[in-house]
Amino acid sequence: MSELVLSIRDLRVTFNTPLGPLEAVRGVDLDVHAGEMMGVVGESGSGKSVTFLAAMGLLPHQAKVSGSVMLNGQEMIGASSKVLRNMRGGLMSMIFQDPLSALNPVHRVGDQIVEMLKAHSGNLSDKQAALRAVELLDVVGIPQAAERAHQYPHEFSGGMRQRVVIAIAIANHPKVLIADEPTTALDVTVQAQILEVIERVQKAFGTAVVLITHDLGVIARVADRVNVMYAGRNVEKGSVDSLFDHPSHPYTRGLLASLPHEGIERLTPITGFPPNMLMPPPGCGFAPRCSHAIDACRASLPSLRAFADLETACICAEELVVRTGLS
Ligand SMILES: Nc1ncnc2c1ncn2[C@@H]1O[C@H](COP(=O)(O)OP(=O)(O)OP(=O)(O)O)[C@@H](O)[C@H]1O
Ligand code: SF4
Ligand SMILES: [Mg+2]
Repeated sequence: MSELVLSIRDLRVTFNTPLGPLEAVRGVDLDVHAGEMMGVVGESGSGKSVTFLAAMGLLPHQAKVSGSVMLNGQEMIGASSKVLRNMRGGLMSMIFQDPLSALNPVHRVGDQIVEMLKAHSGNLSDKQAALRAVELLDVVGIPQAAERAHQYPHEFSGGMRQRVVIAIAIANHPKVLIADEPTTALDVTVQAQILEVIERVQKAFGTAVVLITHDLGVIARVADRVNVMYAGRNVEKGSVDSLFDHPSHPYTRGLLASLPHEGIERLTPITGFPPNMLMPPPGCGFAPRCSHAIDACRASLPSLRAFADLETACICAEELVVRTGLS
């Protein structure tokens, strides 16, 4: 496999809230290799965004973060704000989940790209940076990029704004691009176009992309590997082909069963709710919703372990082997 660019080990994030400590991320392990597209999937509240906000050093001060996040050989947890600023937007950048907050409404889009370029390449002249900004708008598919660079975000459609956000994120050719639900607010056609732009960037620049989504259909279309998150942990990971063909964790199987596919007339949603992270259960977080749960599942937290060609955090995986025929 290609060079390891991002390696997360035993990442834990606890927020101090008025109701007590909330354990948002509870021991996430995850590797991202150069040039790959890695999907991160899981229900709302499973800790997808917080994991990568922690990796970027972007969580508020009341968040207690521990573990290790190595980006290109540099430890990000506990790094100085100067190191973090250099890494962010340089080696690793993020397309944030909320597209409206990503652009400054009072600055021209070209200037916003120039600002990112100059933050990391001090010796770039104004003219060079402006030309590079237009090139970037062109790369992400903005027509008449030179003219559009002078416009403000409100003059762009939602899909075009998201292209601008991508242009800013890739301005300094990051090794890792984290795309947090980059297509959620967009209609289906525009979603497909934005995914194409991200794939194009990944291939053209050899960027590793972490694609966070709640949509396994999107993962199936574009990702090489996938990490399934549940209740602040990764519960299953592996190649997209293996995971779709023979998922081992009941939660993954539940996600796949709720995905429309040929030959299945009725979708089966996962019943119940994720645990309250103010009081997470001592054992497997999925146990209250899992029809296979046994006493041992509730006794202690299952760790990820190798199982067939996947990694799973289900202690009953051997008994539950099944093929979906979805891959
Ligand atoms: N700043 C914060 N303060 C307190 N709790 C937070 C904060 N940010 C996130 N959380 C909590 O951390 C948990 C994980 O949140 P996170 O945003 O990572 O979920 P997610 O998997 O990205 O969900 P979604 O699919 O809805 O974006 C949730 O319980 C959330 O309420
Ligand atoms: S460990 Fe037990 S409760 Fe958890 S997913 Fe596996 S069978 Fe279900
Ligand atoms: Mg999120």
